[in-house]
Amino acid sequence: MNPTTSRLSRLEAIDGLAYGGDYNPDQWPEDVWAEDARLMREAGVNLVSLPVFSWPRLEPEPGRFDFSWLDRVLDVLWSQDIRVDLATGTATPPAWLIRAHPEILPVTADGVRLEFGSRQAYCPSSPVFREHALRLTEAMARRYGHHDAVVLWHVSNEYGDHVSRCYCAVSAGHFRRWLQHRYENLATLNDAWGTTCWGQHYTDWEQIEPPRRATGPINPTQRLDFERFSSDAMLELFRAEVELLRERTPQLPVTTNFMSLFRELNYWDFAAVEDIVTDDAYPDPADPVAHTDAALNYGLMRALKNGQPWLLLEQAPSAVSWRDVNVPKPPGRMRLGSLHAIAHGSDAAMFFQWRAARFGPEKFHSAMLGHRGVASRSYQECRDFGAELRRLAELKGSRVESRVGVVVDWDAWWGLDAPDSLPSARLDWLHLVRTWHRALYTLGFTVDPVRATGPFDGYDVVVAPNLYLIDDAVTAALAGYADQGGRLVVGPFSGVSDREDKIHPGGAPGPLRSLLGVSVDEWWPLPDGHEGRVKLGATTLGFTTWAEWIDAESADVIATYDDGPLAGRPAITTRRAGAGTATYVSAGLDEAALRQVLGPICRDAGLTPHDTPSLDVEQVTRYRDGDRWTFILNHGTVPARTDVPNGTDLLTGDTVSGPVTVAPAGALVVRHTRS
Ligand code: GLA
Repeated sequence: MNPTTSRLSRLEAIDGLAYGGDYNPDQWPEDVWAEDARLMREAGVNLVSLPVFSWPRLEPEPGRFDFSWLDRVLDVLWSQDIRVDLATGTATPPAWLIRAHPEILPVTADGVRLEFGSRQAYCPSSPVFREHALRLTEAMARRYGHHDAVVLWHVSNEYGDHVSRCYCAVSAGHFRRWLQHRYENLATLNDAWGTTCWGQHYTDWEQIEPPRRATGPINPTQRLDFERFSSDAMLELFRAEVELLRERTPQLPVTTNFMSLFRELNYWDFAAVEDIVTDDAYPDPADPVAHTDAALNYGLMRALKNGQPWLLLEQAPSAVSWRDVNVPKPPGRMRLGSLHAIAHGSDAAMFFQWRAARFGPEKFHSAMLGHRGVASRSYQECRDFGAELRRLAELKGSRVESRVGVVVDWDAWWGLDAPDSLPSARLDWLHLVRTWHRALYTLGFTVDPVRATGPFDGYDVVVAPNLYLIDDAVTAALAGYADQGGRLVVGPFSGVSDREDKIHPGGAPGPLRSLLGVSVDEWWPLPDGHEGRVKLGATTLGFTTWAEWIDAESADVIATYDDGPLAGRPAITTRRAGAGTATYVSAGLDEAALRQVLGPICRDAGLTPHDTPSLDVEQVTRYRDGDRWTFILNHGTVPARTDVPNGTDLLTGDTVSGPVTVAPAGALVVRHTRS
């Protein structure tokens, strides 16, 4: 057994799918703990996360640790057979550390040093912070690394949630070292950053600073490198804790909780360091399409480790407390949201948090046990769902089926997020990816995010909504995919720049030119409020934001611009590429338009898109060996009639087949009858 597999086997100690939440016992008098553990047990809780923000309580003075209270908490939990996702406690440095070393406090791009008084008040590059964080981690590992209740290390918490970029002098030094490692000498850096433009030439490393607020648009490559550096700086911190834990407790798996599709950190890199992916997901109950974006986020979580099951570590039982307007989840929606994550490969449904706080910034955040205690709706729904979840225990360890991939690339994301030096500030990477994903989702597909370099095998269709930055490795992977019979679809403003954000010689789509068979002459972004039309056969498609003047060189034109200055010119092209096809979409098509383009491509690839798109009814299948389970989820507000596979609904025990009616917020989990 390899070390990761052996560490992951520790999670088998959790009976069935993991259920529970963040637990903050240090916010409560000790006599509440026994009641907490008893009610947790009653609610079906088998895993809790703690002590996430308890550093001052664990280390009240430098180097003096007090574990007595945590010992007692773990004993109480263990007495009720509840397992622990043990936080290293390093997410927020204590006041004594900040006052002794104020230089730990992070600094914004405007030069403002952020004060103590909230959480995560540290500069990721600070060696002082790191030294103290590692000392606490080490002490935690010694004390609890062999406690029977502990099944998982929870390193820090939501890296980058409040502070993901620091512009202080220490970060500047770290940035310079990172740049020296990347470029080796100043001549290479000057060349990479194109410093001959606007007199930016550097003659000494010490002249280089983070991209703090400047007089005008900042060198885009400097900014791009700072994005990469900042993600790496946080990763370095994470890795330091992970390495220490691996040394001290090689038997325990390690994670840090992600924040879904989060711009600031390259999660492909983070996932490679940990044993299991965990996520915190907060779809807004007020947003009628939040579940489609959630499906994309959950897809990423399973994709980050090649389909390995992940854990939903946090969600809200009802309302959160950090939006402007915090709308609660109506009855049944917590259950549906939990099943949604499980459908997409999570082996857990966990919450923030167990007991609702009485004080602090999150006192209005819902909890499993609301302020009314067992009388609260959230407790009753959580308790009922805890019991129901036991019926899904057999799903643990199974994987999700997907034949469609969407390329998620942080470099492209960061590159496209330079609002003051692009043809349009309106071409939003995340919006593009979500729109393309939603088109596929509503066609009935479960979509896996994939790395720009692949692997793509197993996918009949791969879409890349935007690859603004592209290099030869990505080009070769995409070309190889099409060559082997894959259907590749590339979105607008792709293949524009290289990894140094220099426009490819000859213009876009750069190295993709021969694969796509097109050449871009000029960008034609649309002013705000304007819409354009594209003619695809007899159909007219709408678009906003973006259009391009392209020439089809070796590709067939399948759609042309229908109005405006580009009327009659190619808008969408396709060509045979090896055994597959490569399609280019040059316009900022809306979701309905994308369905018209992607549906036939999927059908051509042997997939079966819905004839009638569905935003509300989703089917996702998990499998293990010869077993298959299909989740049928109605996210909508009206009953939906839909076909289900022959089998048994694990939630009710009923035998099902053919069309069934699923109530609003209703769900089935059908174990397929083996044929
Ligand atoms: C994040 C944090 C938690 C809590 C929740 C509230 O997920 O990890 O500590 O603040 O948000 O929604």
